[in-house]
Amino acid sequence: MRRSVLIAYATRHGSTQEVAEEIAGVMRSLGNHVDVAAAELVTSLANYNAVVVGGALYTGRWHKDAVRFLKQHERALRHVPFAVYAMGPRTLSEQDVSSSRRQLDAALARTSLTPFAIAIFGGVVKPAELRFPFSRMPATDARDHAAIRAWAQQLSLETAA
Ligand SMILES: Cc1cc2nc3c(=O)[nH]c(=O)nc-3n(C[C@H](O)[C@H](O)[C@H](O)COP(=O)(O)O)c2cc1C
Repeated sequence: MRRSVLIAYATRHGSTQEVAEEIAGVMRSLGNHVDVAAAELVTSLANYNAVVVGGALYTGRWHKDAVRFLKQHERALRHVPFAVYAMGPRTLSEQDVSSSRRQLDAALARTSLTPFAIAIFGGVVKPAELRFPFSRMPATDARDHAAIRAWAQQLSLETAA
């Protein structure tokens, strides 16, 4: 039977969902069945052999729906391999990435869970979609699509039974 993977995302402006879809595309091309869903809408993990949870970081915190997802499914996630990613530093400098990583680690530390893989992907800022004063932020897209696809390949390999 094909492996079934859930990718649950928590987004405000869509880039975390786009990355979820990108990961899903790679994993599907490697033979996995993959569902992509908003984290808040997932009610059960019963049908999945692996789970990926992606969330955007805002003002130092991982998106509340990603945090809630881990709490709500904490018991199930102890028995299924799961990976997490967060968006998104403004640049891929070591300093920016490790700052975002600390924010994600702080969210994970409030659970009893240990993901088998953790990634930080560069973020996307579209000032036109933001309210003042954030509308003054420079437009950026720091996603490294090769790195995203490589991570998805690694997940597929590492969750292969
Ligand atoms: C107001 C605001 C605050 C942000 N705060 C953080 C932050 O604390 N850490 C971080 O890594 N990224 C931060 N970001 C960047 C977002 O995580 C990035 O834009 C991400 O791609 C947004 O994801 P979404 O499009 O799925 O909502 C912030 C962005 C905005 C607009």
